[in-house]
Amino acid sequence: MSRIASDKYRSKVMSAEEAAKFINNGDRVGFSGFTGAGYPKALPDALAARIKEAHDRGEEFKIASYTGASTAPEHDGALAAVDGISMRMPYQSDPIMRNKINAGVSEYNDVHLSHSGPQVRAGFWGELDVAVIEVTAITEEGTAIPSSSVGNNNVYLEKAQRIILEVNAWQSLDLEGMHDIYSMGLPGSNKAIPINSPGERIGSRYYDIDWDRVVAVIETDAEDRNTPFKPLDQDSKTIAEELLDFLANEVKQGRMPKDLLPMQSGVGNIANAVLVGLNNGPFERLTSYTEVIQDGMVDMIDSGKLLVASATAFSLSPEAATRMNDNAKHYGRHIVLRPQEISNNPEVIRRLGVVSCNGMIEADIYGNVNSTHIMGSRMQNGIGGSGDFTRNAYISCFVSPSLAKNGDISAIVPMVSHHDHTEHDVQVIITEQGLADLRGLSPKQRAKKIIANCAHPDYRPLLEEYLEQANAKANGAHTPHDLAEAHGFHRRFLESGSMKKA
Ligand code: COA
Repeated sequence: MSRIASDKYRSKVMSAEEAAKFINNGDRVGFSGFTGAGYPKALPDALAARIKEAHDRGEEFKIASYTGASTAPEHDGALAAVDGISMRMPYQSDPIMRNKINAGVSEYNDVHLSHSGPQVRAGFWGELDVAVIEVTAITEEGTAIPSSSVGNNNVYLEKAQRIILEVNAWQSLDLEGMHDIYSMGLPGSNKAIPINSPGERIGSRYYDIDWDRVVAVIETDAEDRNTPFKPLDQDSKTIAEELLDFLANEVKQGRMPKDLLPMQSGVGNIANAVLVGLNNGPFERLTSYTEVIQDGMVDMIDSGKLLVASATAFSLSPEAATRMNDNAKHYGRHIVLRPQEISNNPEVIRRLGVVSCNGMIEADIYGNVNSTHIMGSRMQNGIGGSGDFTRNAYISCFVSPSLAKNGDISAIVPMVSHHDHTEHDVQVIITEQGLADLRGLSPKQRAKKIIANCAHPDYRPLLEEYLEQANAKANGAHTPHDLAEAHGFHRRFLESGSMKKA
């Protein structure tokens, strides 16, 4: 049975190839899609074919691609493979897309996720030509039930001159009611966002769509890119245990209530290990104000440990996605999916006192964090929502193994090769070696603690040697650096393949 209850919308149903003709060289396109959930399944591939044909004829054809966050091989990967993207924002993690950015074929602007929608609304990114948005169904009245991510869809639907909808029959109809679509306005007209607890609903269950701008509707039946989690390794379990001990002590010290504060957890295996640890741990009646719903949260809803989670998207394994689709009505009582300008909103994060926990590439001895660049120049994924949460969290944590690339790289370095989160924002750093609580410490005190607690023993002597030299040579005693050697670890790796001294 068709998911399109409105005759008007049914009259616009066409193939993805037909719909792709509404997108032209130079267009700015706002796509749905967030961590592999809710991206359009058919249009990007058809558009990639159209771009390739144009290139084969010797014609220019590139688009600016804006999304919620990362998408999937059949979206980012397909468009990047045909050199079809001139500008990408705000976040990506596809290997082909990443290579095109690092090869200089596509430009990339790595925007805070909470800023991206409001910036498009305000016109910082120019006129938006097309919105391509996946939805679960279209109602008789012509409103749309969102699918497995919301991201920036509300903004793209509001701003685009032409709208293409993909109606995906794979998405559960029981997602209806899980979403809370509330849009900010322009500065000057904005009111306080009335969210005082993670589960509070303040908007609509549906997207309102301006029919006059709808040019095409495509019917699909394809699953999201749901990637399985790797089995939890010992490092991830150790890091999770350290964080849980830290939280228990915060409760004991009276700095946090015994059911904790709303947790934000980044993507990846360590983050999931933390959720598994919370599920097995002593804390009850937990809440989450975060960006994505991961497997661990679904398990915690099942066990009754997690009362409510607010996010903008799912980021599930295939097994958990099936569970979600089969029981969406039940999970909808515990989950609210919001636009990313709200799920990641600094005002709300600060008000709720969120505890943030994100992965990192490297941290330096003073507590600055690099989340995005390998050896200073090569883009990995992007800052995502880590900045939205870190700066505004009640307590901000970063987690990483202390080593990368078989021990040739130390995650603790004298000076980060790229700055995403400054020492002013980073409060706790955790590796499998231990935890450094940086609150209330000066830079030099922080350096001693990070080296002693977080660096791998193979690199501790080199870091201590650097700190000693920096103390002797620096032009000030507050944050001592030896600028000639501050990136010595990175230089050695680029020259010899290891940060260790020969
Ligand atoms: N130097 C060089 N490479 C490093 C490195 C370092 N210090 N640390 C990690 N890497 C490499 C790993 O070897 C791995 O490489 P591979 O893909 O070739 O195997 C890659 O970076 C990813 O590392 P991994 O250990 O698998 O970490 P992860 O999946 O936990 O991701 C980040 C870590 C930082 C890349 C990831 O957390 C991220 O993109 N963060 C920014 C966005 C964010 O925080 N989002 C959540 C906000 S809500």
